[in-house]
Amino acid sequence: MNDITILAPIYEGKAKVVFATPDPELLVLHFKDDATAFNRQKVGTIAGKGPINLRVAVRLMRELEAAGIATHVVRVLDERRLLVRKVAIIPLEIVVRNRTAGTFSKRYAVEEGIALAAPLVELFWKDDAHGDPLVNDAAAVLLGFATAAEVTAIQVLALRVNTVLRAFFAARGIELVDFKIEAGRAADGALLLADEISADSCRLWEIGTGRKLDKDRFRRDLGDIEATYAEVLARVEAVPA
Ligand code: TMP
Ligand code: ASP
Repeated sequence: MNDITILAPIYEGKAKVVFATPDPELLVLHFKDDATAFNRQKVGTIAGKGPINLRVAVRLMRELEAAGIATHVVRVLDERRLLVRKVAIIPLEIVVRNRTAGTFSKRYAVEEGIALAAPLVELFWKDDAHGDPLVNDAAAVLLGFATAAEVTAIQVLALRVNTVLRAFFAARGIELVDFKIEAGRAADGALLLADEISADSCRLWEIGTGRKLDKDRFRRDLGDIEATYAEVLARVEAVPA
């Protein structure tokens, strides 16, 4: 039921626009087809991405909620619009890695695809103007991004999300290589999983072939971008045998 009045946009990000609603505790996220990579050095459009990512994000967040993880999702309004609880986003990009890839491989000069002995949580200051630098726990607290208790809670949350989503994707023939999440504080102070989780924010490799099923197809000009996003949606919405 789309009975929500949508007010003015309050923020436009790279892949979404956030709108206010008459209820100060609710926001509407509008999912765009726009794609960027490497902090906007590469800009493009992936036709149909917005509606696909909305459905992928909602399905994954529902799976996480079923596992006891609180998220900001309220309900789907239409194919591009999602009603969410308003949170104060903690300015950290919370990355979990199960295998080496991306900036980890680049920073530490290790080849991609090496399995890590244990999942690794990394925190980055979410600030495009400064290139989202890596921060350690103490710096995140000293810089005022989160309290020490929140940093601990974020790391626990990230590892729980990893456990749930790894199993979810594995049952659908996909390995969760790494992903990024964001967390926010609700009005009552509760820490909620926010933003989206989709092929834009995960590395997803087909089990058995290693075929990349995520935004690396756009970042690295691998082709079949739209078809791959649609394939991820189909697999995510499939009920495994
Ligand atoms: P990275 O290897 O570029 O640091 O990315 C790790 C994971 O986080 C990967 O799945 C992509 C995701 N990610 C985002 O969703 N947004 C970002 O801005 C960045 C840098 C990474
Ligand atoms: N989302 C980031 C950007 O738009 C980084 C990335 O996904 O590569 O630049």
